[in-house]
Amino acid sequence: MDRKTILKKLDRIEDLPTLPVIAMEVNKMLRDYNTSIKELSALIKNDQAMTPRILKLVNSSFYGFKSKIANIDRAIILLGFNTISNAIVSVAIIDALSIKGSSDDFDIKNFWEHSVAVAITSRHLAEKSRLCLPEEAFTGGLLHDIGKIILSHYFPSLFKKVILSADENNITFYEAEKKEIPVTHAQIGAIMAHKWKLPDGLADTIKYHHAVKAGANDINLLMIVHVADFISNYFIHSQDAKIDSALINPEAALALKPQLKTLEDWLPGVREGIASACQFFLEKDM
Ligand SMILES: [Fe+2]
Ligand SMILES: [Fe+2]
Repeated sequence: MDRKTILKKLDRIEDLPTLPVIAMEVNKMLRDYNTSIKELSALIKNDQAMTPRILKLVNSSFYGFKSKIANIDRAIILLGFNTISNAIVSVAIIDALSIKGSSDDFDIKNFWEHSVAVAITSRHLAEKSRLCLPEEAFTGGLLHDIGKIILSHYFPSLFKKVILSADENNITFYEAEKKEIPVTHAQIGAIMAHKWKLPDGLADTIKYHHAVKAGANDINLLMIVHVADFISNYFIHSQDAKIDSALINPEAALALKPQLKTLEDWLPGVREGIASACQFFLEKDM
């Protein structure tokens, strides 16, 4: 299958996962700086299924509030417009994709664990570097690899080929993709992001997270997710936090130099954050 055929097939798939209306609306609100807290609150309350889940999220150990937050208005005031909006989009996308991810060769749990790790690491990098909004970084990290789910579900033979090649040649999934098939999960993910009308900066972050492109929309978000992906792949499970900057895009390494230098200091805290976020995001009855 050549690149054109794959992209054409992707465009014609009728049962591609869709985002619920509420997530699309929230996306629109995130782009419109005039949206008020009242409007966001009304939108959430309108969605019967979303209200209890957002309340469960804000009351989870993930946010660490001692007293119980009983209603949406209070949740927005305490956590802020951006946090709540991004939580809705994240929860909706996990939902939309979880159903589609089940294939024999694809470990969906592992996939979301990695995505949550990149999300939490990205958020930390954004908080410390102030290069972009922490909650935007969280969403970027959570979604950077979504193309893998689409690839495994709709193109299982290509996916299998990549997995086998990665194993046999002891190379990364991305390197195996470039070697074996005409598209990458990064390109496929970006196509999904455009279909879902996610912001351009988010779509470019997904598209270029392995190969940072100067001039991409929201280059700061892209650099953060790129570095967070690298950290998650090499350091989250290992105690040996010595970094080989040659493996990171030089501009991104420079922009996040203070954070990379102090990796050993902050990594334990981020590891804890990942564990509690996984509990929330990956629970079955989330
Ligand atoms: Fe990736
Ligand atoms: Fe990744």
